[in-house]
Amino acid sequence: MASLLKIYTFPDPILKQPALEVQQFDEALASFCEDMFYTMYESKGLGLAATQVGILKRVVVVDLNSGDLELPPEPLIFINPKIIEKTGETVFEEGCLSVVDFRGEVTRADKIVLEYQDLRGQRQILEADELKSICIQHEIDHLNGVLFIDRLPPLKQKMVKKRLRKQALAAL
Ligand code: CO
Repeated sequence: MASLLKIYTFPDPILKQPALEVQQFDEALASFCEDMFYTMYESKGLGLAATQVGILKRVVVVDLNSGDLELPPEPLIFINPKIIEKTGETVFEEGCLSVVDFRGEVTRADKIVLEYQDLRGQRQILEADELKSICIQHEIDHLNGVLFIDRLPPLKQKMVKKRLRKQALAAL
């Protein structure tokens, strides 16, 4: 039975911490990924990084069909993901389970080549574009302690963070 994990939200300082490489590909890792999927589906997110649930390990789960009941689930797990090639540029309005009630346009690479390990520790290569590419880049940012709001233009970023800090205080 999978458990629902607590999702940390801005401005929690854990979200700024860099995550560490996974070394052990064991049963505990597989079960943690199940909990991450369960938490992501319950929250209707397209992706979730371990950092967001307070675990500083380089683990990301993605399902672009999450939240759409018409589409079959397409769960993807990326352990120790690393972008080895980036091309082009694309702008997309992003949101994040760790950033409550705000969406904003972010510029990212259009296409990426990703190197990662699967649950058994096998090295894999994936080419991604469009939403999959954007989502993977967003999740890898989390592993490096970066939120999409950190990629907004400076003035906008300042305004948005101020508002989000106020909201977070009001919610206490
Ligand atoms: Co996010």
